[in-house]
Amino acid sequence: MHPAAPFSQTILTGDRPTGPLHLGHYAGSLQNRVRLQDTHTQYILLADTQALTDNAHDPGKIRKNVLEVALDYLAAGIDPDRSTICVQSGLPALAELTLLYMNFVTVARLERNPTIKDEIRARGFGRDIPAGFLCYPVAQAADITGFGATLVPVGEDQLPLIEQTNEIVRRLNHQIGKPVLLEAEALVSKTGRLPGTDGKTKMSKSQGNAIPLSSSPEMLRQFVRQMYTDPNHIHVSDPGQVEGNVVFTYLDAFDPDAQAVADLKAHYRRGGLGDAVLKARLSGVLETLVGPIRERRMEISSRPGDVFDMLRDGTARARRLTQERMDVLAGALGLFRCA
Ligand code: TRP
Repeated sequence: MHPAAPFSQTILTGDRPTGPLHLGHYAGSLQNRVRLQDTHTQYILLADTQALTDNAHDPGKIRKNVLEVALDYLAAGIDPDRSTICVQSGLPALAELTLLYMNFVTVARLERNPTIKDEIRARGFGRDIPAGFLCYPVAQAADITGFGATLVPVGEDQLPLIEQTNEIVRRLNHQIGKPVLLEAEALVSKTGRLPGTDGKTKMSKSQGNAIPLSSSPEMLRQFVRQMYTDPNHIHVSDPGQVEGNVVFTYLDAFDPDAQAVADLKAHYRRGGLGDAVLKARLSGVLETLVGPIRERRMEISSRPGDVFDMLRDGTARARRLTQERMDVLAGALGLFRCA
């Protein structure tokens, strides 16, 4: 059973369910979440409503991936008795908060948000950006404050969203005249962003450079075989470059034997160590990590009803919490509501 807020800090994290989770998610955040559930009250949001802000043409994909990502969470070790996993589209109070907060943010400020600016450029939206996409930082502020979260584990790229959240918090608190809303702090993971298997900085399913957490042993081997190393390391005897060599980046992230990796790096730099040896080691390391996750995923996916029940319970609990927080804010602002 869930004890009511046994820890002093509340965490909210979340993912857009646009596809299955991959090793980048594991290194960057899942691993942390598994640890944090022992020391914090943790809510994990399947942000399907946010995913629609740039996927409105394909709601079926988002719907399907809610369950896939929930399975990934459970398989990776998120324990629904310690963390609350919930679905954003089942939390109407967050939509109400978003609508309210829109009055405390200007369009100019949203257009200046570096995360949004980058994404508008990357997706080539220009002025034809969906209004929902431009406003998703406001919705994320609603998520964070709706759960009363004080800690938000995010990647570097999401830092401007936390800043924008705290601006909204301060505006509302100023308007109300007392600190009804809490400011949140970002928790940036120590392991930086994992590159794609092709060496590109951004991992994405469409590029085929992200290793899904649910990979079969053959898929793992295939991804490692095609991994980017040092293009100038042609003969085994050639000295090789470690920096930017994805095999080493992944060994750094996942090989538990740091000394062995350091020795391999020295050997590679000297020359005389072939890529095939390195890749065989990485394949083994990844199978040790992914094997148990894959097995648990298979076991859990044979009971889809249980996964649905878990999501329904988590979402019901989150619905009560976010509704309470919306009611407090509506009271503090003096909304009429006929209630
Ligand atoms: N924007 C996050 C992402 O792209 C997902 C998300 C939605 C989120 N709401 C959140 C993350 C609240 C942290 C807190 O992955």
